[in-house]
Amino acid sequence: MFPFDHSAATIFYLLLYGITLVLHVLPMNYVLAGSTYLAAYGVWEAIRGPVESQRSLAAVLRDVMPIALAVTITAAVAPLLFLQILYQKPFYTANLLLFNRWMAILPVLIIAFYLLYLQKSKLWPKFSSQTRAAVSSGILASFGFVAWSWTENHLLSLRDQATWSAVFASPKWFYHDRELMPRLLVWYAGAFPILALALAWQRHFSDVSNASGPTPADDSEGVEVERSTTRTLAIMAITGLGAAVVAGGGYYWYLESEIRIQLVSWESAPYLAAAIVGIGVQIAGWRRSLGGEKMSRLRLLTTSVGALMAVGGATTLREVRRVASINLLDHAGLHEAAAKIGGLGVFLVFFAVNFSAIALVVRAVRRGLHENSPR
Ligand code: HEM
Repeated sequence: MFPFDHSAATIFYLLLYGITLVLHVLPMNYVLAGSTYLAAYGVWEAIRGPVESQRSLAAVLRDVMPIALAVTITAAVAPLLFLQILYQKPFYTANLLLFNRWMAILPVLIIAFYLLYLQKSKLWPKFSSQTRAAVSSGILASFGFVAWSWTENHLLSLRDQATWSAVFASPKWFYHDRELMPRLLVWYAGAFPILALALAWQRHFSDVSNASGPTPADDSEGVEVERSTTRTLAIMAITGLGAAVVAGGGYYWYLESEIRIQLVSWESAPYLAAAIVGIGVQIAGWRRSLGGEKMSRLRLLTTSVGALMAVGGATTLREVRRVASINLLDHAGLHEAAAKIGGLGVFLVFFAVNFSAIALVVRAVRRGLHENSPR
């Protein structure tokens, strides 16, 4: 069963890569689907006027998006490093040569970062609704470009050296691959259930911290807005899951037949099963909220387990698809050599220092929140 047919060193790096990639994918989903929601909200507001029932979700998203982007980028560094050990030549060397294309991601992300802050600034309500729609759409376009670039980059790394040498030598900025659009669609659709779940947890925690204070939803109008928000999240999650299944099925048929066979072989069956069960658990978790019933803590927890199963299963299948094109055994010597390089002591020292620094920051913020909270 994949990855246990490889050496211990290769398995070690594959595990580190897979786990850290999931840590990147979760906040990335929030940013990608969140920017879509805000762009759709902005365009709707510009054409038809404000939508009362969606106002609170939009406000939460505007507030959290900058930090979600910061987490996405920070969490992306670890898989980027492990990737270079795992697939040195097709990934690292190829990307060094294609430097100008991939570095375009940086200015785009920097601009998007500033626009996210503009979106939560005091200036925001003073702009016309058309300007707000244009800014939110610009943010979505930026993240769409970055997602597209990573998919393009990934697919190019799966091709042989002659292909990426030709791309490097040509003046073209973009590499087209038949798998690109279907693959991107799978990522895009799968982002919405994760966003819905994250927003449901945010609402849960804000309910818990407001439990002793006045509740904003005491009047009947407030209750209706709350129910409508819950319905929006359930629809977002279930539609996203359905679209991800359809996109995944479509993508499967785009693949070469040998790769298709590997994806449904016994080797990858546990991961496929985990993804399918995870999707089922999430749909079951959200179904009751279609009528407006808020997610209980237990339901949130089981739905989150389902989400992790689906993301973990899909991420492993993604690797099965990669090793169907790149022979990992060719790189086994490199993994052995990397595993012998010391530095565990230095790593542990920095781990302890960073962990303590983060714990101190969390403590300071909690204390500040507690001291400033209304009594
Ligand atoms: C909002 C910003 C970002 C978005 C929307 C995004 C989106 C994505 C997507 C869609 C993939 C999957 C590609 C595929 O399998 O087809 C991916 C993978 C990845 N991303 Fe991000 N990403 C973002 C920022 C970053 C940044 C800043 C870095 C680096 C510091 C990064 C590092 C990675 C890595 C290493 C992978 C795995 C690539 C591979 O295995 O071939 N991402 N990202």
